[in-house]
Amino acid sequence: MNANIESTCGKHLVLIGYRGSGKSTVGKDLARNLGLDFLDTDNVIQEKTGRTIREIFATSGEPAFRDLESEALEQLLSQEDLAPSVIATGGGIVMREENRECLKKLGLVIWLEVSPITALQRISQDTFTTEQRPSLSDDSLSDEVHRMIAQRTPIYEALANIRITNDDNHMATEAVVKTTIEQLRTSSWYSDLIKQLDS
Ligand code: S3P
Repeated sequence: MNANIESTCGKHLVLIGYRGSGKSTVGKDLARNLGLDFLDTDNVIQEKTGRTIREIFATSGEPAFRDLESEALEQLLSQEDLAPSVIATGGGIVMREENRECLKKLGLVIWLEVSPITALQRISQDTFTTEQRPSLSDDSLSDEVHRMIAQRTPIYEALANIRITNDDNHMATEAVVKTTIEQLRTSSWYSDLIKQLDS
């Protein structure tokens, strides 16, 4: 998993993973702990279009949303003056090869792994996000979550420099962040960040 950690060049931390894996919760806390900014590609898209993700899916369809995701990544990559940030991404952003290339260029990629059962529990409890997020298929939510996680897991795994399991609802966010930072400390990305913050 960490084999390609040293070849990373981007200054950001990129969080990938399925819905309910904790990208926003862990991402915000991680950013605060490291003194970085926090960004979310879904928010970048919503701010740019003035529409929610659900509206975009409903009126323009999923392919149009996927194009907007690719544009958002290109936009972030082109912003050379962007402060080092933790960038949370939409769960399906990894499905396009061009996006995977952008994600690698943006920085170190952290996969927050979650099981279908836990993802389903968290998604069902998070009514606010559910209102904002469209269904990705005509399947039941349970079938969709199981199928999507099975389909995407090999892709998340191949792309990630670091894998953090965030599947225990009794584990506090701070503990997940602590584990993540412990793993980060072994990377050249982290020493580069420290050098940058010291200079
Ligand atoms: C999607 C996940 C969503 C959002 C969109 C599509 C997906 O983001 O990008 O609804 O394909 O899994 P979150 O993972 O932040 O919920």
